[in-house]
Amino acid sequence: MSQFHIKNLEEYFQVYRKSVRHPEIFWEEIAEEHFLWRKRWDKVLEWDFNKPEIKWFEGAQLNITENCIDRHLAAKGDKTAIVFEPNNPEESAQHISYTELYQRVNRMANVLKAKGIGKGDRVCIYLPMIPELAISVLACARIGAIHSVVFAGFSATALATRINDSDCKLVITSDGSFRGAKTIDLKSIVDEALTSCDCVKTVLVVKRIHSEIDMREGRDLWLQPLLDTADSNCPPEIMNSEDPLFILYTSGSTGKPKGMVHTIAGYMVYTAYTFKNIFQYNDDDIYWCTADIGWITGHSYIVYGPLANGATTVMFEGVPSYPDIGRFWQVVEKHRITQFYTAPTAIRALAKEPLSFVENYDLSSLKVLGTVGEPINEEAWHWYNENIGKTRSPIVDTWWQTETGGIMISPIPFATPTIPTFATLPFPGIQPCLMNEASEEITGNPAEGRLCIKFPWPAIARTIWGDHQRYKDTYFSAFQNKYFTGDGALRNHTGYYRITGRVDDVIIVSGHNLGTAPIEDAVNEHPAVSESAIVGFPHDVKGNALYGYVILKETGEERNQDNLRKEINQLITERIGPIAKLEKIQFTPGLPKTRSGKIMRRILRKIASGDTSNLGDTSTLLNPEVVQDIMDNVL
Ligand code: WTA
Repeated sequence: MSQFHIKNLEEYFQVYRKSVRHPEIFWEEIAEEHFLWRKRWDKVLEWDFNKPEIKWFEGAQLNITENCIDRHLAAKGDKTAIVFEPNNPEESAQHISYTELYQRVNRMANVLKAKGIGKGDRVCIYLPMIPELAISVLACARIGAIHSVVFAGFSATALATRINDSDCKLVITSDGSFRGAKTIDLKSIVDEALTSCDCVKTVLVVKRIHSEIDMREGRDLWLQPLLDTADSNCPPEIMNSEDPLFILYTSGSTGKPKGMVHTIAGYMVYTAYTFKNIFQYNDDDIYWCTADIGWITGHSYIVYGPLANGATTVMFEGVPSYPDIGRFWQVVEKHRITQFYTAPTAIRALAKEPLSFVENYDLSSLKVLGTVGEPINEEAWHWYNENIGKTRSPIVDTWWQTETGGIMISPIPFATPTIPTFATLPFPGIQPCLMNEASEEITGNPAEGRLCIKFPWPAIARTIWGDHQRYKDTYFSAFQNKYFTGDGALRNHTGYYRITGRVDDVIIVSGHNLGTAPIEDAVNEHPAVSESAIVGFPHDVKGNALYGYVILKETGEERNQDNLRKEINQLITERIGPIAKLEKIQFTPGLPKTRSGKIMRRILRKIASGDTSNLGDTSTLLNPEVVQDIMDNVL
């Protein structure tokens, strides 16, 4: 049916119009025709952005794993659900059929149950990109447990914060992970984290790198022997539409990470529907998203969206540069990838390398290319289009967020004409708007302002775990009756959207969201530091990199600045993870502050990006003289 599979621009406009005029009928028809429900809903939508409260398909019952696995078994039992491509190209890839996935998920679900995990319990998953990661996610969903996947690049402190915030009872991890030529000792990170987490009673350990690790008696168990004796049938827990499916932490501009809560039915419907259209998935396609399941992109577009469509989805354990910088293209050739979805930062890094790394491989299987996570610059877009897509494969520049659950603004390939750097048009059901500083909607085109969404869509996060007030304050307070994204955008004369970037204190580095406050907290922990301010500055591969302005305590003694820089970055690595390290650290006697004591980040951002032409009005500063000092010593 065309509504589920939009094939041209005219269809898009028709479907879009319907989705806006009759949203409830629109989503109801999709939900009815394409999913398996144990009980039908009583009401399609109930919402109030002021409370805020959003409910989709209330009263319905289902299990998302029946939709992602069981219902495909009859017709597609032998079809490959997951292709696992290991870090080392010498190790064979695994092809996990839907039947095998069913058995492995069910065994895992039974292991979790045997360890006392049930509906509503939180399970933390801290694993590398190996099949057990997807299997653990689905096993939680099978029994109604709430998964909280923590990206395996986060430090022990960051992991502990996330485990404690949602009171996880059980952690699933591995002895270690392979990352290019390196191995990472994940289990010892977990051990360290758990010294401050009393809530965790059990740790299940996957053997991946076969290293010597400590197993704590009474708490830690090897997973495989438990799986070997577990039953391969586990009846699905029948869940309500609005029961939580998972928690996924994302950085906020202040304070601790926000545990975004996604609920089952709306998330399922939306990720499945967007996946089908935005990747134009057809039954024999082999789809590959290079993200990690530790991020929302992996949740929605490696696991749930593809599997709900009975697709073949690739999980890649490695990195783009191992064993050499041609790895992505080698994998595309090897598995005959049809849809390839990656981040602009990866494209920029690969575009710097000789073209021979691309030309060595046959990329003729590719039909659709995608990007996500940050704005893609024009140069990278053209490189991707010409060298990877050979100008034949449309690029879908997909804008969305952890909070939105699924893609919100994106071209539909072969339907929406693309323009580099534009995410183009809203997906059906999405009603974006641009707001000015006076909180008024800017109508007409072209326009530029703060990007908001006026009407709920099924995959919007329902709350922040344990802090509904923060959910309201962050997303529904800046503009009356609208969801505020935190992004700025412009809309051109044809109504196409281009995302211009964050308008808050979140900085996107290599596609990862980083809040400045937690990094500043880590820097300030250093005994020599009295105060710090962190801003982003443009970086040709990472998109943005972090620039730290640091005030040292007056002690009268000379300190070696390079050593201090190393120690500060070491602290950040321990507290947050290596992704948050500062690219540049400038020691300064002061920070520009307003009379009310607020750091003027706007000025610091300009100086860090090498633009000192127009710093605007500095007369309101308490200490204008410091600006000249900072400019004189900029790195
Ligand atoms: C940014 C990732 C420009 C944006 C799915 C957003 C983008 C944040 C794009 C969310 C894009 C994501 N063009 N910017 N196509 N996609 N962003 O939560 O600033 O990790 O608010 O979700 O990434 O990042 P998150």
